[in-house]
Amino acid sequence: MKRILVTGAGGQIGSELVPLLREMKGTETVLASDIRTPRGSDLLDGPFQNLDCTDARAIGAAAVRFGADTIFHLAAILSAVGERDPRLAYEVNMGGLHAVLEVARDQELAVFVPSSIAAFGPNTPPDPAPQDTIQRPTSMYGVTKVSGELLCDYYHLRYGVDVRGVRYPGIISWKTPPGGGPPTGPSTSTTTPLAVSPTPASSPRTRSST
Ligand SMILES: NC(=O)c1ccc[n+]([C@@H]2O[C@H](COP(=O)([O-])OP(=O)(O)OC[C@H]3O[C@@H](n4cnc5c(N)ncnc54)[C@H](O)[C@@H]3O)[C@@H](O)[C@H]2O)c1
Repeated sequence: MKRILVTGAGGQIGSELVPLLREMKGTETVLASDIRTPRGSDLLDGPFQNLDCTDARAIGAAAVRFGADTIFHLAAILSAVGERDPRLAYEVNMGGLHAVLEVARDQELAVFVPSSIAAFGPNTPPDPAPQDTIQRPTSMYGVTKVSGELLCDYYHLRYGVDVRGVRYPGIISWKTPPGGGPPTGPSTSTTTPLAVSPTPASSPRTRSST
């Protein structure tokens, strides 16, 4: 993991992860990208590019130009926003993931993509929800998270893509305004690794969009 392309970098997680990665690995080794330019953000203190994650050609070209070996794929439409526009949520969450996985397959890149407790659903046994269990979410966001997990498994099994993820709970942070909405999964806050490949390596604002 020497040069990292981050999609959706202007969001809640990216706006904190990118500065940390740059601190750890060097500013010039992390290319932040998002469909919008995060005005006044410290993301612009290093390499930044506007990228639509559903555009595989643009993602691929950016990865080649930057010499990326890893993609942190954070671009997504989260729960409440996704319920307002399920079609957009499907297009961005599934189309974006598929584009990133295709680029990774083509260029032999590693991928990290978070899943969510939204991949569970009202019938999932809680406290804690098991790793392998009933996954029947009732939101479009949850549907794309389950499908995304399966798609990642497929790209690993079929093409050997090194793709890894965790199911995040609702994250609490302060840097960016909420972008997702209320929780859509069981109350457990367990983070569980996806079974896709070997293990890799303030004034809080609650955003439990999961
Ligand atoms: N924040 C949480 O509590 C939480 C919990 C569980 C899982 N996750 C997952 O973590 C990842 C990041 O979540 P987040 O909270 O940072 O989300 P966020 O909504 O804060 O940020 C998402 C970013 O994606 C960008 N984006 C939207 N459409 C795009 C497109 N077509 N191309 C490129 N960028 C686009 C947005 O501009 C935004 O900056 C997502 O996969 C999400 O499902 C987050």
